[in-house]
Amino acid sequence: MDPRETARTQKRYDRQAALYDLREAPVELMFRRFRRWLWSGVSGRFVLEVGVGTGKNFAHHPAEARVVGIDLSPRMLRRAALRARRMGRQIDLIVADAQQLPFRDGAFDAAAASFVFCSVPDAVAGLEQVRRVVSKAGEIHLLEHVRARNSLVGRLMDFMNPVAVRLTGANINRDTVSNVAKAGIGLDSVESRGLGLVKLIRGSTGAG
Ligand SMILES: C[S@@+](CC[C@H](N)C(=O)[O-])C[C@H]1O[C@@H](n2cnc3c(N)ncnc32)[C@H](O)[C@@H]1O
Repeated sequence: MDPRETARTQKRYDRQAALYDLREAPVELMFRRFRRWLWSGVSGRFVLEVGVGTGKNFAHHPAEARVVGIDLSPRMLRRAALRARRMGRQIDLIVADAQQLPFRDGAFDAAAASFVFCSVPDAVAGLEQVRRVVSKAGEIHLLEHVRARNSLVGRLMDFMNPVAVRLTGANINRDTVSNVAKAGIGLDSVESRGLGLVKLIRGSTGAG
């Protein structure tokens, strides 16, 4: 884990926070459906949302769940807090690093995240932390954009990645399905959308 890269990621998102929703509005027309798809499978009484950003998932949280949301960027989180207040939702929002989650082992029934592990500097470390804080046999649900399987497009994404990271904080060429497996999360299902560039990954911590 590289603290300097984590600090850079935080700065990149702080910098974007004010205009983030406006910039993302066109893609959000498609992503809104994907968010519904993600959250429709999430159950549990006590749920962690990792990297809440400006709170675009809040409308899709299960009504009966108590949700804790974390994010590395205080400015993104401030927008999330405003959104929660506007919506009249009670969501506990905490500035925290996914690579060092400030929760005890097995604290949550489930965890979910959308478009986050492209940005977490050490994605496997972050996913290991998610596995740690979700209870035995608990659920982990991730919606992520990933590197294309097509070798030409994939190589183009590799080439463009440094620029994408500098501009947006997000790596466009992550193999998040492999990273989930590397973190010891059991893969229950992987579904694709958006020409295979968006994956819905459902996993579990396992009973053991
Ligand atoms: C592309 S945005 C997605 C935000 C939100 N999940 C959504 O779907 O709109 C990525 C978010 O991950 C957060 N993030 C990046 N690295 C993180 C880390 N190490 N720990 C927690 N949050 C992180 C960023 O601050 C940012 O808010």
